[in-house]
Amino acid sequence: MPSFKLDDREIPFEKGDTIIKAAWRLGVEIPHYCWHPGLSVAANCRMCLVEVEPPPGGRAMMLDILKWDATKNDYVPDRKPKLQPACQMQATDGMVVRSNTSENAKQARAHVQEFLLVNHPVDCPICDQAGECKLQDYWMSQSRMGKRMRDEPVHKPKAVPFGDKIVYDAERCITCTRCIRTCDELAGDHMLDLRERGNKNEVVLAPGRALEGDYQLMVEHVCPVGALTSSHFRFKARVWTLKESPSICTGCATGCNTWLDVDPREQRAYRLRPRDNLAVNKFWMCDDGMMTYEGQHESRVTRAAVGREGSRAKSAVDAAVTKAAESLKGVTGNHVAVVLSAQHSTEDNFVAVELAKALNGRLYLSAKPAWRGDKILRNADQNPNRSGAVAVATGATVGTLKDLVAAVNASTVNAVIALGGHSDVDASSLTGLGQLPLVLLASHQTALAAQASVLLPAATSFETDGSFVNAKGKAQSFKRALRPEGDAAPGWELLARLGRAMGLDLAYTRLRDVRAALLARAPLAHPEYTPAAPASEASAETAPTA
Ligand code: SF4
Ligand code: SF4
Ligand code: FES
Repeated sequence: MPSFKLDDREIPFEKGDTIIKAAWRLGVEIPHYCWHPGLSVAANCRMCLVEVEPPPGGRAMMLDILKWDATKNDYVPDRKPKLQPACQMQATDGMVVRSNTSENAKQARAHVQEFLLVNHPVDCPICDQAGECKLQDYWMSQSRMGKRMRDEPVHKPKAVPFGDKIVYDAERCITCTRCIRTCDELAGDHMLDLRERGNKNEVVLAPGRALEGDYQLMVEHVCPVGALTSSHFRFKARVWTLKESPSICTGCATGCNTWLDVDPREQRAYRLRPRDNLAVNKFWMCDDGMMTYEGQHESRVTRAAVGREGSRAKSAVDAAVTKAAESLKGVTGNHVAVVLSAQHSTEDNFVAVELAKALNGRLYLSAKPAWRGDKILRNADQNPNRSGAVAVATGATVGTLKDLVAAVNASTVNAVIALGGHSDVDASSLTGLGQLPLVLLASHQTALAAQASVLLPAATSFETDGSFVNAKGKAQSFKRALRPEGDAAPGWELLARLGRAMGLDLAYTRLRDVRAALLARAPLAHPEYTPAAPASEASAETAPTA
């Protein structure tokens, strides 16, 4: 593989890589504002300047300059190497690049930084970006200069709404055009533009346009400074009070990788951000996915309850589990329906299948109805784990909720144990289920919750470790970020407790036991499953070299 030297480190690169991209791939940062790995190169901020040594025998590109000479108390002619933008310059084999080891590059960055702050309001104390702002970071690492300009800074429009999700502050904007390129290149719609020149330069809505569509929040996400803020997060939290956890979006079957930011003091979710995964979502998420965190604390089932709606009484989880087991006593054979959930983790569904096997029950699947997909990220299936739920059934027939309603009407099912219970059928058609023992494990009030005879509080994917399998069959795990609300517990744990209360052999008490069984029985749905190398590859690896 070709490589070049950056400071004292060897950086391998792929054909077509720029210096900054090859370094980024290795986790080496060259300071930058306008460059973004998922966007085209604009090379307008000049923060990424580096010194490139001429090839042996070659001639360095030099600039004529005036340099201050203290002994002469005057400027004297001098020359210095012409610096190159690392975001635009292609890497070539054997090239020698100096970034942190070049005084010229360091000085240039300090001056770019000073220039960007000349008219900046420096309103960090009330800026949502404070704590994760590139202007702050690079002032600390590249500049630390006091402001030399004494004139009144140029004032520009503040708090300009760009649609109903994004607010723009032109005084904080460094006109890097990342937001404009995101509209053009991700959404494929030129909704934002630049107007004026020099210190009057600002981002505006393109003539006759509004900021709209499913990827508006990405313009805020790519803004390296506090110029674009999102209405849902604006003035809600300081980022240094938040803690990030790796999670998977529950919005659809794409399974975008996310960071969930929570305030551990309040045990509250504050935002979701894309977590880069080149194989799944690259650097992006859609707006609906980013807003799924809002549902975390709404309409939750936090306590167990026994009895139908209207005569329902709150209960301790243990007592409700005992009650549920009693109500299911005697209803075995294939008259028991176990409803899997395309919204719940693979682990929850796996234990539900184990329970169904032990009861010789029939399997069904509850899911949210289809929504608007697109060719960018959004999958038409609004469920994060249809593939995982089906995979753990290991070939058994899995009916839909519509099939379940038909089976109940035909009296072939006379008891139901259900997970989640989101419904893609009309809620009124579920009323027949309200005549049967219906044990529901749910994190939120769902269409089935109104019909349940026993309701058990299940943890959400933010409150428990687990995994989903996306539409392309990729199993991905997520981590617990919040304490379960109220008495909520992981779905797999509640199902195992219910099974034991019914006298069944469901010994799962730890997630690792569930995962081990999952690996043995449905390995493709296990997030850490790696297929064994084919025999031909294995022998190629061990074959002696000629
Ligand atoms: S609003 Fe942000 S992303 Fe857009 S040009 Fe200004 S600084 Fe760059
Ligand atoms: S595309 Fe799907 S998985 Fe990705 S952010 Fe949107 S809703 Fe979530
Ligand atoms: S990152 Fe802006 S010029 Fe290179």
